[in-house]
Amino acid sequence: MYTAQVIDHFTNPRNTGQIPDADGVGTIGDPGCGDFVRIYLRVRANRIRDIAFEICGCPASIATTSVLTEMASGKSLDEAVAITEDDVVNALAGLPESKVHCSNLGTGALRQAIVDYLQRYKKKREVK
Ligand code: FES
Repeated sequence: MYTAQVIDHFTNPRNTGQIPDADGVGTIGDPGCGDFVRIYLRVRANRIRDIAFEICGCPASIATTSVLTEMASGKSLDEAVAITEDDVVNALAGLPESKVHCSNLGTGALRQAIVDYLQRYKKKREVK
């Protein structure tokens, strides 16, 4: 049984789509079920200015990634990378036990997008 928050985010996911010329992109898939998430970031002054995601996944993965993008928006990179799977599940007032693993996709993709941004930023500094 899904909570009202899960149903809300699943039926009306926030921040879907792409960010053209994103500063960081992270993609992660779950080999167990074949689902995947891709997160796009625009970063300004070390903060997440814009965030968007594409997904091929189950209702729980859509809801967890949607609420994650709301939680991460406007946060510093340090704050965003510290968002845990438990934080996401709690923001949705819980998930069925068999669906808790679905929260790994969004958080994993967000961390990869932050790493991608940092690697690009480091390369730009090396070129200068
Ligand atoms: Fe694959 Fe939910 S069952 S992410």
